Amino acid sequence: MRRAGAGKETELGDAMRVLDAAAPVAPALGEGRRFPFSRKTNARAGGRPVTPEVLDPRRTGSEALELEEGLRALVVGQEEAIRQIVDVYQMYLTGLCPPQRPVANLLFLGPTGTGKTRIVEAAAETLVGTSRAVIKVDCAEFQHSHEIAKLIGSPPGYLGHRETHPLLSQEVLNQYHTDRVKLSFVLFDEIEKASDALWNLLLGILDKATLTLGDNRKVDFSRAMIFMTSNLGAAEMQSLVSPRLGCGSSAPPAHDERTEGRIRRSGIEAARKKFTPEFMNRLDKVVVFRPLGEGELRRILDIELGFVQQRVLAASAERAFVFRLTEEAKDALLADGVDLRYGARHLKRSIERMLVQPMSNLIATGQVRGGDVLRVDWDAEQSCLQFVREEEGVPVQALAEMLEPRVRSWARAAVAAQPAPQKAPLARGSRRI
Ligand SMILES: Nc1ncnc2c1ncn2[C@@H]1O[C@H](COP(=O)(O)OP(=O)(O)OP(=O)(O)O)[C@@H](O)[C@H]1O
Ligand SMILES: [Mg+2]
Repeated sequence: MRRAGAGKETELGDAMRVLDAAAPVAPALGEGRRFPFSRKTNARAGGRPVTPEVLDPRRTGSEALELEEGLRALVVGQEEAIRQIVDVYQMYLTGLCPPQRPVANLLFLGPTGTGKTRIVEAAAETLVGTSRAVIKVDCAEFQHSHEIAKLIGSPPGYLGHRETHPLLSQEVLNQYHTDRVKLSFVLFDEIEKASDALWNLLLGILDKATLTLGDNRKVDFSRAMIFMTSNLGAAEMQSLVSPRLGCGSSAPPAHDERTEGRIRRSGIEAARKKFTPEFMNRLDKVVVFRPLGEGELRRILDIELGFVQQRVLAASAERAFVFRLTEEAKDALLADGVDLRYGARHLKRSIERMLVQPMSNLIATGQVRGGDVLRVDWDAEQSCLQFVREEEGVPVQALAEMLEPRVRSWARAAVAAQPAPQKAPLARGSRRI
């Protein structure tokens, strides 16, 4: 597929010439006419008459489909957010995004730990290969004018003008562009905490896709996806899903269409109350993230276990081993880690405490060695995970074969992203050859 921006001027010039040439032939859209080009006219203009065919605008191109699959592998249960990101990416690819605006202005609302930040990282990982490409602005940290200078730099003449490197410069924005994808990902977190100065800056970016730095340089955001997150209305949403949660219950939330609709409305209502119409008008979409239920947390557990396996493989090639959890062990992690008030955050803490920390003890004491295959079970008597070696001396290649394909590819990416091993310092006067 031809990419937006590639040889834009010449293509545009060609297209305009073709349109100019066609103009005298194209009839004006008159009163009562449904469609400007009749089949006869088409034929006259060089077109080929065909049997009218209804087209399917719901199908996405292969690259957008790849993004969708990438997001689905990493983000659980937030279909609407995935849909929005894929849709704007498709528009970006075909060059149909509105001009002089960011590629997308999306506001994500919803309870803590439901994937608002994760989905932005996942989009960056899938499209440009690393979540570090996300430029994150914690709005709560930019309350005073000197803090705004960290974002846009201070005007010339101010003390320290040369030393401050603005966080939102064009270089930072373009840093992770690849030959394939020239997109930036900017995330304004907790926007309800933004100061007035930051707010004005944000409105300018959302509206005109430009930002003026302290030294008057302009930054172009027309190749950026702008994400904003807020926990506004999260408490009300959570109480709609599981009214007893406030009393410490972790009963699974009821997800039906009516509840989902009410959650959405309460989120949007909270945003309308807090934010000005001029801000709301600049948004392409407000997406309300659903509180996660137990089934979703179970799927997130599998994803997170894959990341732990990736860490094990990336940590050291000589000490690479594979572990597998029994269903009982997974149940135990879920029982400990499911607190629906904190979404998946709590589950991640349980994984670190119950699995990763003991495993690092096993590595440090040489009880687990490279080439081992471990079974991780639940020891009900001791109330902890039990680690059992089932095989040893398995070659790395064979270990890799045991992994799910997606974990294998994450591990490969993690190894590739590792910094090259430090070369030994050279003796004075010597040089490398
Ligand atoms: N829907 C999800 N799918 C997959 N992983 C998730 C999901 N939600 C949360 N997680 C996991 O939990 C972690 C925390 O989630 P995340 O940072 O996205 O929360 P958040 O919605 O941004 O919360 P907060 O409002 O507190 O910033 C993520 O790093 C990810 O590992
Ligand atoms: Mg977040």
